[in-house]
Amino acid sequence: MNIFLIGFRGAGKSFIGKILAQRLNKKYIDADEYLEQKEGKTIKDIFTESGEETFREIESRVIAELCLQNNLIVATGGGVVLNVENVDRMKKCGVAILLEADADTLFERIKGDVGTKTKRPSLTQFDEYQEIKHLLEKRKPLYDKAADFVVNTAQISIDEAANEIMSFIENYVKDTKEAL
Ligand code: S3P
Repeated sequence: MNIFLIGFRGAGKSFIGKILAQRLNKKYIDADEYLEQKEGKTIKDIFTESGEETFREIESRVIAELCLQNNLIVATGGGVVLNVENVDRMKKCGVAILLEADADTLFERIKGDVGTKTKRPSLTQFDEYQEIKHLLEKRKPLYDKAADFVVNTAQISIDEAANEIMSFIENYVKDTKEAL
C-alpha cells in the first residue's frame, strides 16, 4: 500500500512524509523532485518553457509510474487533485491523506521557505497571498473529494500530525485487511 500526502503548498507534505516513511519503514518520494529528475529540468523551467498544461501531463505520468510501485510515502504536488485520473490512480494503489491549513498559515510558511523563489512558479496573476486564497477556494472541493483522511496541520506539530496519520493507517489496515 502507498500513502499519498495531498494538499496545498506549505501544508507540510514533505516534512510529514519523511517522518511517516521513517516510522513505517517505507520509501519516501517527493513527486516534484522525482519529476524534476526524470525531466532533467526544474518545475519552474517546465512552466516557463512549456506551460502549466505540459507540467500537468508530466505530473500525471509520474503518478501513474509511482502507482506501479508499492510501499511508498509520496508527497505530491499541490495541484495533483486537478486531474481526476490522478486521484483515481492514487486511490487504487493506496490512500490519500489531505493536509490542510488556513491561507494565513500557508502564506507564512511559503514565505518562510528559502526555496520558494527558485522552486515555486506563480500559478495565477494574483499576488502570493491572493493566489493562495483563490486556489484554496477553487481546489477545496477537489481536495475534500480525494481525501481518505484529513489532518489540519495549522495548530499542531509535524510529529502530532504524523501520529494522527499513523492512527488512521493502523485502523485502515485493520478494517480493510490491506497489507501495510
Ligand atoms: C503546484 C505545487 C507544487 C508543484 C508545482 C504546482 C500547485 O508542489 O507541483 O509548482 O499547483 O499547487 P508543492 O505543493 O510541493 O509546492
